[in-house]
Amino acid sequence: MNGKRIVLGITGGIAAYKSPDLVRRLVERGAEVQVVMTAGAQAFVTPLTFQAVSGREVRSDLWDHAAEAAMSHIELARWADLILVAPASADFLAHLAHGLADNLLTTMCLASDAPVAVAPAMNRVMWANAATQANVQLLQERGVYVFGPATGSQACGETGEGRMVEPTALADAAMAVFPTQGPLSGKRVLITAGPTRERIDPVRFISNRSSGKMGYAVAQAARELGAEVVLVSGPVNLCAPQGIRRENVESADQMYAAVMKEVDNADIFIATAAVADYRPASPTDSKIKKLAHTLEIPMERTVDILHAVAQLPDRPFVVGFAAETDNVEVHARAKLERKNLDLIAVNEVGDTKVFDQDDNALVLLWANGGREDLGAGAKTLLARRLMGIIANRYLAAAK
Ligand code: CTP
Repeated sequence: MNGKRIVLGITGGIAAYKSPDLVRRLVERGAEVQVVMTAGAQAFVTPLTFQAVSGREVRSDLWDHAAEAAMSHIELARWADLILVAPASADFLAHLAHGLADNLLTTMCLASDAPVAVAPAMNRVMWANAATQANVQLLQERGVYVFGPATGSQACGETGEGRMVEPTALADAAMAVFPTQGPLSGKRVLITAGPTRERIDPVRFISNRSSGKMGYAVAQAARELGAEVVLVSGPVNLCAPQGIRRENVESADQMYAAVMKEVDNADIFIATAAVADYRPASPTDSKIKKLAHTLEIPMERTVDILHAVAQLPDRPFVVGFAAETDNVEVHARAKLERKNLDLIAVNEVGDTKVFDQDDNALVLLWANGGREDLGAGAKTLLARRLMGIIANRYLAAAK
């Protein structure tokens, strides 16, 4: 984050006692930090503490003539490359969501073009409150980065979701907001991930056990190499990695449409999604009642997204995944050829393998007959190895 200028907003919550450490972690990563405190924050930690760790006088008052004369709140808003608010109280989130500007911090958030990130911290019931959840959703839809909250024991003596994410993880998340320089800088990577849901009737669908973890790890790894990443995701319980754009879809048809909308701009396409191969041919508008002893649901094929992308005249570098239970590599090589891929990543799946696990094992097969065993390990590590290889092959082919 060399030289990146961060306005660190501190609002009134007990987690503010961790924020001086966050300043240290940000400075350690090369950032310049200007702390802005609300009145509530000063009930927990003194401005002097933040001044000592940031090396800058803390700002807190919109009506401070001397401070405004030195650098007005508008100039400060322009100065920021990122506004990070940690801890962000429920009250602050509500103000931000509704565009209220009754103190220096909320005014700056309105007056700045810089990205805004918040690290919510509050009692678990306050976090779960419908008003807070609606505010957070609104903020996310507007592009505000939401880091956390984490789950665990709380200062109020309760246990649950609402703790502030720890300073080191917050500093890393803040760093990820800025585009990194890497071998894939300026390149666009389009990734599909997660399962799809195919509608049977208004209350039922057919889906599969994909958790999306591998695809999300690949998206993060691509981002770490500097790529601009678009992740087209089926329904999963995962947060989008920082700095990537996620398009949420449900069915194979929706995933196909989202991919086709983005693919013209893509340099690399990676299909990690477990797309349903079949869907109910005639989903009903009314709930199916249990009348007969057996039920048959006619199914029809879905469009093969990977195959469709690989057939495009001006196609990106195309990577597929194969999940097989037996004759793993034979089936995978046939798939590689049938779908006209540049590379296929193969994993063996089974009841206790891969699905929803944090670990995986991958073998890569190349169109020219090559093979590379990536071994076993955490999906995040395998994803980095895989992305490194994809980047090398892509850059060599693009020369
Ligand atoms: N895929 C896709 N669109 C589909 C189906 C699959 O993009 N409608 C992609 C997956 O994301 C994955 C690869 O194709 O990259 C998997 O190929 P697929 O033929 O679906 O494999 P399986 O269903 O695992 O195998 P099988 O041929 O045995 O059904």
